[in-house]
Amino acid sequence: MNILSISDLSANEILKLISDAMQFKNGKISKIERPIANIFIEPSTRTLMSFQRAQNKLGMEIYNFSPEKSSLTKGETLDDTILNLYAMGMKVFVVRSSEPHYWKNITNKDIAIINAGDGVINHPSQALLDAMTIFEEFGTIENLKIAIVGDIEHSRVFKSNVDLFSKFNSTVVGYSDKEIKSITDEIENYDVVMFLRIQHERHDKKYNISNYNELYGLNENNISKMKNNSIFMHPGPVNWDVEISSNLQHHPKNRILRQVENGVFIRMAMIEKVCKNM
Ligand code: CP
Repeated sequence: MNILSISDLSANEILKLISDAMQFKNGKISKIERPIANIFIEPSTRTLMSFQRAQNKLGMEIYNFSPEKSSLTKGETLDDTILNLYAMGMKVFVVRSSEPHYWKNITNKDIAIINAGDGVINHPSQALLDAMTIFEEFGTIENLKIAIVGDIEHSRVFKSNVDLFSKFNSTVVGYSDKEIKSITDEIENYDVVMFLRIQHERHDKKYNISNYNELYGLNENNISKMKNNSIFMHPGPVNWDVEISSNLQHHPKNRILRQVENGVFIRMAMIEKVCKNM
């Protein structure tokens, strides 16, 4: 099986992945004797390193593909690259590419792909780790109010979170610089407020960074209006003092590094699910 998009997963499968990830976090050990290849054609810190950490904890045989040193530089396609690695005995691939639905021509049913991000479309492992973090906080991912603030138009994190939380009757409201409404005016309504960076690599639009935080970000003024027990999140990388004031780095509502921590365990659960279904 593949995990390409949140829409591939039912609500029950999402809850099972969160439950499995919690078990891993609580010390459950599982070993998978399989090779796995990480093919990241777009930069990554959190997703790549936490998939590698997850694979190490599962005792897997790990192959990290370096695009800049590979025959992609000679014009070989991603499809051919994967077929060649398959011929060497690798069947499970974690892939990130700027190409939406990069897997569409890979028809070999023996190949399993875990999508680590495709263009502006999907980032399923991020939405799952966000859901795990929210579940830990509230004991549920149902009937919550979630705001996602920033460059939502170019964000695969936004889209995958909308796909996920809509399965649980939770409301996700997007706030971008195009909206008349501001997060500051409505921040008191939300259980979770998630900030996104400006995805500069995906468009040419210029922002005035000097007043961005005041207009669209989280700061000492608007955080004081947040509900008791509410939290703020960010998928990373964070541009401190743009999306979020740097003086809120140690604020008790900050769950950003908890998201990163949970990313290892949710990715262990995803890999285990895929490998059990091969
Ligand atoms: N959240 C996220 O996808 O971060 P990276 O780009 O560093 O993997």
